[in-house]
Amino acid sequence: MVYFQSKHHPGRHFLQIPGPTNVPDRVLRAMDNPTMDHRSADFGLLGARVLEKTKKVFKTSGPVIIYPASGTGAWEAALVNTLSPGDQVLMCETGQFAFLWRELAERIGLKPEIIKTDWRRAADVPAIEARLKADTGHAIKAVCVVHNETSTGCTSIIPEVRAALDKLGHPALLLVDTISSLGSIDFRHEEWGVDVTIAGSQKGLMLPPGLSFNAISEKALKASETAKCPRSYWDWKPMLASNATGFFPYTPATNLLYALDTALDMLFEEGLENVFARHDRHAEATRRAVRAWGLEVQCADPRHFSSALTAVRVPEGHSANKLRAVIAEKFNMSLGNGLGQLNDKVFRIGHLGDYADLSLMGTLSGVEMGLKLAGVPFSPGGAQSAMDYLTGNA
Ligand SMILES: Cc1ncc(COP(=O)(O)O)c(C=O)c1O
Repeated sequence: MVYFQSKHHPGRHFLQIPGPTNVPDRVLRAMDNPTMDHRSADFGLLGARVLEKTKKVFKTSGPVIIYPASGTGAWEAALVNTLSPGDQVLMCETGQFAFLWRELAERIGLKPEIIKTDWRRAADVPAIEARLKADTGHAIKAVCVVHNETSTGCTSIIPEVRAALDKLGHPALLLVDTISSLGSIDFRHEEWGVDVTIAGSQKGLMLPPGLSFNAISEKALKASETAKCPRSYWDWKPMLASNATGFFPYTPATNLLYALDTALDMLFEEGLENVFARHDRHAEATRRAVRAWGLEVQCADPRHFSSALTAVRVPEGHSANKLRAVIAEKFNMSLGNGLGQLNDKVFRIGHLGDYADLSLMGTLSGVEMGLKLAGVPFSPGGAQSAMDYLTGNA
């Protein structure tokens, strides 16, 4: 059951978009508690606990800010706290989300310079390195990379970006969007030398939409002291001052913090490494299904395959949107649509968050039946290939 459906569908809705993801019952039950006084002593204890616990999922010992906002807010926060109007930033257009982040940067008065890809691979590290090398005057103040590009299913290799900056001794900040990777794909804020990590609640963290995050390095914090972009709601300073005692400068999303507290417990009980391995295994099974169907994965470079989602290209002359509509109607399953230039060309299978073998097999069976009903040419047996892989790698 979902809260609203114009037509009744029996059975459970399959929410297989790459976020928002399925919220586990344990997290839903945590949210289903009375809202508490956010100025009470008890709230301070809860806030301090959740803020501390959150650091662990980012793999950082530094501060992590929690905004009552969607991921877009955390994108803006990362930029306005560290940069000044007119600053040059190097951004990698790996897909639609990188494109939207660049538009946001332009709107707030930054000067983004773009390194494009064909949207079939992740950030082009040699191109980043070449551009930084030419920037002998260090005009570029930040390098912005989307870790997992949700529109294409391509994952950038962040330690290589860091290594390029280090090799050149370039002082630009490294800002990384992990909105669809945190809690699903290995990410290490501190070890990888990331200055601001941006994240959202509604994907690997298994929460509803509504929270977003900035994990902050010492260097980023220092940059915020002189950054001149206007900011108020997003300002780190009053947040950090209040967070020191577990409080927030404005009303926090109290019930979402209960949810975060519980979801983090679940991730740590399973063990982050096991969570990542679970997603790697489901991603590999999905790609095997796609290949068996005779279809193509949007990500063309195996080094960049995403473990959070797989974008699948439909053959020329066929409509990915029609396929998705047939699957929604017949099997009560939502798949991700093609975004931007990929509209109608791909559908996206989300296999992140609270996801198990049978979630995957339900998803792939629905896709395989949908391909047949929508008249998309394919070879049967994709779901079987995935099962063979899962049982061979139990
Ligand atoms: C990689 C990435 N960045 C940014 C966003 C934007 O986040 P939101 O829609 O929560 O504002 C999304 C949303 O799906 C995303 O996947």
